[in-house]
Amino acid sequence: MKFYVCPICGNVIVVTDEKPITCCGEKLNSQDIKKAEGKHCLLIEEQNNNIHLTSEHGMTKEHHLNFIAYGKKNQYVVVKLPKELAVDVVLKKQEDAEIIFGCNQHGIFRNG
Ligand SMILES: [Fe+2]
Repeated sequence: MKFYVCPICGNVIVVTDEKPITCCGEKLNSQDIKKAEGKHCLLIEEQNNNIHLTSEHGMTKEHHLNFIAYGKKNQYVVVKLPKELAVDVVLKKQEDAEIIFGCNQHGIFRNG
């Protein structure tokens, strides 16, 4: 999966292949995924068959986490995070799944 972020409107676009993608009239480049550190880490609590994701990252209009993608190989669940609300996401647990998420100021991260 490839992740693109529009620098103008902040739209996050998840695609299955690297192809030319445009948004707001701009050609977008796929984003490198960095290893999450410090406040750019999601906190994961396992609850029965679910995972509960929270974060200590600020969620202001200007600087916030904007999405979480959870899954593996060809299938991800993508959750848009609302601005100005704490991250509070519950997802059905999947074996060997990865967590990828974005910060509107600092890029895209892989948790763990
Ligand atoms: Fe950030």
